[in-house]
Amino acid sequence: MKNLLLSSFICVLFSPFLSFVYADPVTRGGEVATAYMKELKGKLIAAMSEGGPVHAIEVCGTESAKLSAAYKSKFEDVLEVRRFSDRFRNPKNKPAKEEAEVLQGFREELQKGTGISDHVLIENGSTVRFFKPILLQSECLLCHGERDAMPEQLRSMLDSRYPDDKATGFSIGDLRGVITVTMSKP
Ligand code: HEC
Repeated sequence: MKNLLLSSFICVLFSPFLSFVYADPVTRGGEVATAYMKELKGKLIAAMSEGGPVHAIEVCGTESAKLSAAYKSKFEDVLEVRRFSDRFRNPKNKPAKEEAEVLQGFREELQKGTGISDHVLIENGSTVRFFKPILLQSECLLCHGERDAMPEQLRSMLDSRYPDDKATGFSIGDLRGVITVTMSKP
């Protein structure tokens, strides 16, 4: 009886984690990508209301790196979570070859006007990569919209931190970039 109780306790304790680990890569990649973007957006909005856009710049930068590290250590099957864009603000987010090809595929779909795929999955030996497009929303315009429309303080802060910033001039619905989750195969 004691053993039964103990094992059901262990099951209850670990089952959410196990279901995460053994979900198929599309479901699992989608869950992780959505959770990451939701968490980052939440932090961004909180930072904007606390200290305005200049303070929030810290969040889109430092918090995204912290979140990526946290997801990697929190979930055994997650090897990397990363955002990238060919119109990048931080050169660290420049796409590698495979990433650039996926991004180009999403862009061509969007240009055809027939709708954009929800995701792309690529298997590489013992790992699998999930990619999901990031489309620009209204909350992003302040820092990724027209440079001329930015408050002066924000523009000069961005200029000094990101001298080669390519991430302005976006409109709502544009392909801002891609989020990718690299996982070990179940
Ligand atoms: C307060 C300003 C601010 C807002 C609002 C903002 N961002 Fe950013 N964004 C940044 C900064 C700063 C970086 C560079 C981060 C870094 O150093 O890694 C960035 C980087 C990114 C990147 C990584 C690629 C790159 O350009 O380096 C993506 C993708 C991105 N933002 C998407 C969004 C989306 C989508 C929204 C709206 C939900 C948004 N951002 C809102 C400031 C902002």
